[in-house]
Amino acid sequence: EKSGYDTFMEKEIHEQPKAVHDTLLGRTDAEGRLTLDEVHIDVEELRAVTKIVIVACGTASYAGMVAKYAIERWARIPVEIELAHEFRYRDPVVGEHTLVVSISQSGETMDTLMAVRHAKALGAKTISICNTHGSTIPRESDAVLYTHAGPEIAVASTKAFLAQITSSYILGLYLASLQGGISEQAAHGVMAELQEIPLQIETLLRSMDRVKEIAYFMADSRAVLFLGRHVGYPIAMEGALKLKELAYIHAEGFAAGELKHGPIALIEPGLPVFVIVPSPDSEHGLHSKVVSNIQEIRARGARTLVIAEEGDEDVVPFADEVIRVPRTSPLLAPLLTVVPLQVFALHLSTAKGLDVDQPRNLAKSVTVE
Ligand code: F6R
Repeated sequence: EKSGYDTFMEKEIHEQPKAVHDTLLGRTDAEGRLTLDEVHIDVEELRAVTKIVIVACGTASYAGMVAKYAIERWARIPVEIELAHEFRYRDPVVGEHTLVVSISQSGETMDTLMAVRHAKALGAKTISICNTHGSTIPRESDAVLYTHAGPEIAVASTKAFLAQITSSYILGLYLASLQGGISEQAAHGVMAELQEIPLQIETLLRSMDRVKEIAYFMADSRAVLFLGRHVGYPIAMEGALKLKELAYIHAEGFAAGELKHGPIALIEPGLPVFVIVPSPDSEHGLHSKVVSNIQEIRARGARTLVIAEEGDEDVVPFADEVIRVPRTSPLLAPLLTVVPLQVFALHLSTAKGLDVDQPRNLAKSVTVE
């Protein structure tokens, strides 16, 4: 059942090209317009949406953070992302023109379910992005966009995360097309780039030998930091979460711009720091800002493990290791940049002799509040 892999997690990491591919499949109708799965919300009501709130927990919440960047960019609708357990208990401002989007692999996470119920009681429309057909959250939501990652067995989420991000892009493009935030041509362009991602992940997975070696060298690490900016920020958080849950290492993800506001004090000689570098094509000079961050932490002795696009030579002088990812648009990069971080956590856990598929104290679906 592990198809020749040692662990379900490793198998599921290798199923990611298919997870993205299958989630993209059948998303356009005969006229080439985007479609969702079950939508029991009037199109006019979706056109009238003035605010989106995404609720989710853990890894799914990081998919929600990526979704915020994409949906705001394309649909020009303000998006808030909130941990489901926080949303539920703080009297959120939600009304009939609010669309509450939940993201959940299992569809059974109690915190997320309670947030969806609360949103409905406040009169919001609810859409579920979910990987499990017929589970509770999609059944209780007004609309569903299923991710097609297939069953995820390993406790740590990998392929479901990529499918959640993929679905978020589809939702963003769909809402943008309804509200006129994006031209048809631009939306087609994004879809065409998304179609290339599965092959790019395959290529990337074939070049992970060095990441595995680094993981084995680093098996004794006490702490690891992750820095990212823009859509790389949630990926830094996800890289840190994977390392905590799988290798029991103290790990933290930061927004790179926040470094100088405090976390730079943590940098000491030998501290491993992963940096997710935005594409050189990113707007607002983000690329060079992050390259400067790498330079700053290296000058203080950090061991810099840099995830950068193919052909980005600017990072080379300041990187102890460069991990290359294929080129795509800046907004779509999370589907690629997270992969080496998953592979790293997997191998570090293995190097420490830990149970990759069943980390201590964790359950696959958290059905209690
Ligand atoms: C991390 C992980 C958890 C889940 C979270 C939400 O690897 O698996 O953080 O992402 O418990 O679970 P779902 O998506 O089932 O609602």
